[in-house]
Amino acid sequence: MSYYKIQNFEQYFKHYNKSVREPRKFWGKIAEENFTWYQLWDKVVEFDMAEADIKWFTEAKVNIAKNCIDRHLNKRGDKTAIIFEPNDPTEEALHISYNELHQRVCKMANVLREKGITKGDRVCIYLPMIPELAVSILACARIGAIHSVVFAGFSASAVASRIIDSECKMVITSDGSFRGNKSIELKSIVDEALEKCPSVESVLVVNRTNIPVNMQEGRDIWLQPLLDEASDNSVAEIMDSEDPLFILYTSGSTGKPKGMVHTTAGYMVHTAYTFKNVFNYEDNDIFWCTADIGWITGHSYILYGPLLNGATTVIFEGVPSYPNYSRFWEIIEKHKITQFYTAPTAIRALAKESLEYVQKYQLSTLKVIGSVGEPINEEAWHWFNDHVGGKRCPIVDTWWQTETGGIMIAPISFVTPTKPTYATLPLPGIQPVLMDEKRNEIEGNQVVGSLCIKFPWPGIARTIWGDHERYKQTYFSTFPGKYFTGDGALRDEVGYYRITGRVDDVVIVSGHNLGTAPIEDAINEHPAVAESAIVGFPHDIKGNALYGFVILKESGEYRDRENLTKEINQHISDHIGPIAKLDKIQFVSGLPKTRSGKIMRRILRKIAEGDYSNFGDTSTLLNPEIVDEIKNERI
Ligand code: WTA
Repeated sequence: MSYYKIQNFEQYFKHYNKSVREPRKFWGKIAEENFTWYQLWDKVVEFDMAEADIKWFTEAKVNIAKNCIDRHLNKRGDKTAIIFEPNDPTEEALHISYNELHQRVCKMANVLREKGITKGDRVCIYLPMIPELAVSILACARIGAIHSVVFAGFSASAVASRIIDSECKMVITSDGSFRGNKSIELKSIVDEALEKCPSVESVLVVNRTNIPVNMQEGRDIWLQPLLDEASDNSVAEIMDSEDPLFILYTSGSTGKPKGMVHTTAGYMVHTAYTFKNVFNYEDNDIFWCTADIGWITGHSYILYGPLLNGATTVIFEGVPSYPNYSRFWEIIEKHKITQFYTAPTAIRALAKESLEYVQKYQLSTLKVIGSVGEPINEEAWHWFNDHVGGKRCPIVDTWWQTETGGIMIAPISFVTPTKPTYATLPLPGIQPVLMDEKRNEIEGNQVVGSLCIKFPWPGIARTIWGDHERYKQTYFSTFPGKYFTGDGALRDEVGYYRITGRVDDVVIVSGHNLGTAPIEDAINEHPAVAESAIVGFPHDIKGNALYGFVILKESGEYRDRENLTKEINQHISDHIGPIAKLDKIQFVSGLPKTRSGKIMRRILRKIAEGDYSNFGDTSTLLNPEIVDEIKNERI
């Protein structure tokens, strides 16, 4: 019996129980039957949760890029691997076959090697959503270099801090990027970032927008001529299961971003298996995930998951509102998309526009539609179901994280009955538990608690780059012996999970994880600012927006508040990126603090939400009078 594809609900329970009782047999069989290995493992899994030390498929040898491409060539070399849909709808879409992808990745691998990149080196990839992004990632994987993709909306200082943290030797970027009717000068952002990055020896530049760029002699080089010269023959590196595959930075509730490290074999098995099941992927399906490859969703479900299954996957360069609000629906019709995977924030934004935008297009090719990144509210769920899925397509509300590598809790399409706003049941191999404040596991149904996972799964991140202690502290110390997700959840009467949101200081804005601490750090660097506190508050489209409470220094007191507000937001944009801008800024004379000096964010959150009903216990506040002042001046 094969465990790779779950056929019906009864079988789901069988596989699930097997995966809990005999995880080694379960994952071992999936791994053995569905991938190409140079050498099989000693042990399927080995772990010590207290030390946050987890290994899957120990001692096995494998190359994930070969599993994504080479092993499909005999059977489906001419099949389209990647459809590239450019920002400008009048520019022709590209269809890249598996054969062509193989050729392009091999050439790129040779260019990287010629530039001195070898196994274990870190390569920062700062590119728009163009084929070269996929090719660069896969070429790194082919030669065993560790890719660190940085979302091409981050500012120079955010890029710099990520490059510095992982000591990247190379940056791959482009002259610029097209996003809707805007273009962004990526190369000049990289130039600014590299002023602070001594580890970078070379920069490869893709020509995308044809804008003039500054090329630093001896460091910067145009990519295309190198590719033209390169051979398309390249031997893949033999990687150990636990060799790092990539680093991807995610916000934390404190300080600097965390470089989550994903390794090779476990990530491969997890993303392939979840892609196949959650989306019910079948041969000839055309899968479209609208995320950016700069986030984990793009890594796992634009590239690795689909390619490991020999699927056709879409890379879309643009935005849903350009040239108008029909763009998504037009693309679904044009490319005959069968699975469409997007985010609640995009659904809400499009649902706000006239229905005509969506009704004009044929969406009948769709089989499954999916949501990821934040809780999907009931209204958005129904709009998605009625107008996109035509009430025929199951909605897979997929809960997971950068840290988990792949989907964890989600319906299996055509298997698990869906329920609006519920991510439903854990996938086989995933053992969620809800914990109470006393750190006890909450048994039974109709309960709420902090969501933890009590047994390792193959896709879990193994560490934070350069800081295993922080990894241990962040994820394995709150509830000893368990992985803590940072999310709260409820379990309904039949055992379905609904994720209620973050229980820490991470706010999800438009599906992007933003730690409040780094934004506060950025604001506090503004010369007029003494101190600040950021909280999230509900927003119709973005899900959450940011509300900043700012104390000014004496010198800032007499300045024009409107200008200051603009300056602070510009400052955030420069330090982090436009996604972290604040919707509201209130200047205050103090912040509610405990006697130990901690800002009581709970109160600020309530004020930002406009809910003055129950501030809870304020007796530990050092300055209770400030609460009324802040409340009365709320914007
Ligand atoms: C939230 C994105 C509710 C959650 C893959 C999680 C969700 C964080 C869902 C991770 C969902 C993601 N329902 N909340 N279906 N999916 N989240 O690392 O708070 O960008 O912890 O990974 O997004 O965000 P990240």
